Amino acid sequence: MKRTVAAFAVLAALAPPALAAPKNPADVDGARIVAADREPGNWMSHGRTYDEQRYSPLKRIDDGNVGKLGLAWTYKLDVDRGVESTAIVVDGVMYTTGAQSIVYALDARNGKLLWRYDPQVPGENLTQGCCDTVNRGVAVWKGKVYVGTFDGRLVALDARSGTPVWTVDTVENRKKSYTITGAPRIVKGKVLIGNGGAEFGVRGYVTAYDAETGKQAWRFYTVPGDPNDPPEDKAMEIALKTWSGRGWLDWGGGGTVWDSMAYDPQLNLLYIGTGNGSPWNHKFRSDGKGDNLFLSSIVALDADTGEYAWHYQTTPADQWDYTATQHIVLADLNIDGQPRKVLMQAPKNGFFYVIDRTNGKLISAKNFVPINWATHVDPATGRPVLTPDADYLSGPKVVVPSFLGAHNWQPMSFNPKTGYVYLPGQESMAGLQAQEKPLFIPHKAVVNLGVEVPDLPEDPKVEAQIRSAWKGRLIAWDPVKQAPAWTHEYAAPWNGGTLSTAGNLVFQGTADGRAVAYAADSGKQLWQARVNSGSMAGPVTYEVDGVQYVTFMAGWGGAFPLVTGPLSLSARVQPEARIVTFRLGASGKLPPAKKAVVALPPLQKITASQDELKQARTMFNGFCGSCHGLNAVSGGVLPDLRYMTPARHEQYVAVLSGAKLNRGMPSFASVLQAKDMELIRQYIVKRSHDLQEQLKLLPAGTAAN
Ligand code: HEC
Repeated sequence: MKRTVAAFAVLAALAPPALAAPKNPADVDGARIVAADREPGNWMSHGRTYDEQRYSPLKRIDDGNVGKLGLAWTYKLDVDRGVESTAIVVDGVMYTTGAQSIVYALDARNGKLLWRYDPQVPGENLTQGCCDTVNRGVAVWKGKVYVGTFDGRLVALDARSGTPVWTVDTVENRKKSYTITGAPRIVKGKVLIGNGGAEFGVRGYVTAYDAETGKQAWRFYTVPGDPNDPPEDKAMEIALKTWSGRGWLDWGGGGTVWDSMAYDPQLNLLYIGTGNGSPWNHKFRSDGKGDNLFLSSIVALDADTGEYAWHYQTTPADQWDYTATQHIVLADLNIDGQPRKVLMQAPKNGFFYVIDRTNGKLISAKNFVPINWATHVDPATGRPVLTPDADYLSGPKVVVPSFLGAHNWQPMSFNPKTGYVYLPGQESMAGLQAQEKPLFIPHKAVVNLGVEVPDLPEDPKVEAQIRSAWKGRLIAWDPVKQAPAWTHEYAAPWNGGTLSTAGNLVFQGTADGRAVAYAADSGKQLWQARVNSGSMAGPVTYEVDGVQYVTFMAGWGGAFPLVTGPLSLSARVQPEARIVTFRLGASGKLPPAKKAVVALPPLQKITASQDELKQARTMFNGFCGSCHGLNAVSGGVLPDLRYMTPARHEQYVAVLSGAKLNRGMPSFASVLQAKDMELIRQYIVKRSHDLQEQLKLLPAGTAAN
């Protein structure tokens, strides 16, 4: 007996002081999430509440004292690639994720690690995503923590220990490059998860699994399967009529549910946002005919059965990568004197939609940044009215916004006190040109779009011009007036998701490595602090033992720096993945930021002709550009190949043939012959020479791009 007591005493001494409400960890259920406002200290579901407003009633930190926010604690994550996770906080414990789907449970007061779970995503799978090896966070339910892994597994972990309880494979066709980057949501004991991979030729769907056992409850496909087979359900019957030919069957169709969901408990409707078409080119996908349901749509489903209720398609016949997977927010608004149950979304295509969430009817839509692909949304039909600029099937076009969208996955927030939606918007453009004949490259790490890889000129002056036209904006959008209340401009796009609070505050991380607070009503900047790396994820706030904290997930990465490397250099940050938490009066110190490499190793010889280099550039941008940056200018997340040392040049063929597959560098042995590999290397060498020329023109000690 005595010995047991002594053992407990030792354990107690080792353990941190007891949490305020010692409960079973992650003991969350639907009743608790529905009543989330009764315990505002917790953040129990992805968007805090089922309506995904990302508004916190906490107000110890407010517009009067926010200037006194100081660094409470930091926690360095394992992988310095994109961090997109929204942290969950329940009863003093934080559950969050970093790149490569690694899960962390920490003491939310001090950042002390309680457990860590690495799903060990195989290197080969790490190569099979469009936009970095990101993850947007976990869900919790009745003592378990759920994560969707980059290779498509759904894993339930014991919240106490991080040990897996069950694992299911959500991928129905392992020949295709399916990934999971989204956070699961849990409704009525069912874990809901979709997937990504449209650019790699997958068919989109969302699946519900029993939270206890992992048993599949239902699956909803977003695009039709083979017309020769009977449609899976009524929804697929409706959808099939809007597709033509059989082209999409080879390319998957797309429509992936890779991020947003929201739930209305009264209507018992689950809302999902669906992605772009696969391939992008509508002619190859569907003979250039039909709306292609349910691409780029908001679809309402019965939460119990997954049965189709209604849909609203934001971009019929999408061919610009205008996904409608952006964050969906539910709210009750007063419109024209009437209380309306609305759903709001600002998808990539640049329109802000207010939709009646009981029936899917459009209430209003207005563009929130300048766009050129459509003039407006016709209120009678709910359809966008296209301009000739959108039609790249008839010739090359510059389309605004680009495939990165006027708004991407970075979540927005709705503050019921101001009535504004805080929207991380951006301005961008893309040069698009249809392929004449489908160029289909059979490789699990190579995207197939039916469109030439968006071109970006090499000329540094033109590049700088385009870079300066790509901007970020925090917009306080009035959804009733469909107009901005205030706007804050950033030099770079790809700023963070937003959080708004009852303290009249809006928090946002920035691409250039800051955490910022604004007054929610006026937009006045009230506070900022460095977090070193770009902070893209949605911040959260929580309270433990009467102290309010604000957490930013820092970690630069994702589509912008990976794919459009040179354009992302306006952010001027290095990838450095870290959880950064603030509270009033704290005075912690952030470790110094990583520095970029500036020294260029001795240059190799260029032996290829001008013509060969031109061809090599096309190959580089098609095979390598999506990770190492277009024109061999990396956004800094993955190696900038212009800086390869002579030793690296020697290993080059081995690396391209799979030597670094376990680190997420694909093998191209099956698609590139030795002479192609050498040509691509020649292009890289040429770009190192270009860089040296640029460096000569710069004052000593400055970094070129
Ligand atoms: C899916 C993303 C992806 C694609 C596409 C890709 N790479 Fe990589 N590559 C990586 C990653 C990740 C690493 C870093 C591996 C590590 O951590 O050591 C890498 C590393 C390399 C390296 C070693 C560089 C160094 O300094 O260590 C070379 C060389 C390279 N890649 C060349 C290429 C070429 C050439 C192509 C196109 C034919 C290409 N890569 C396409 C992801 C990619």
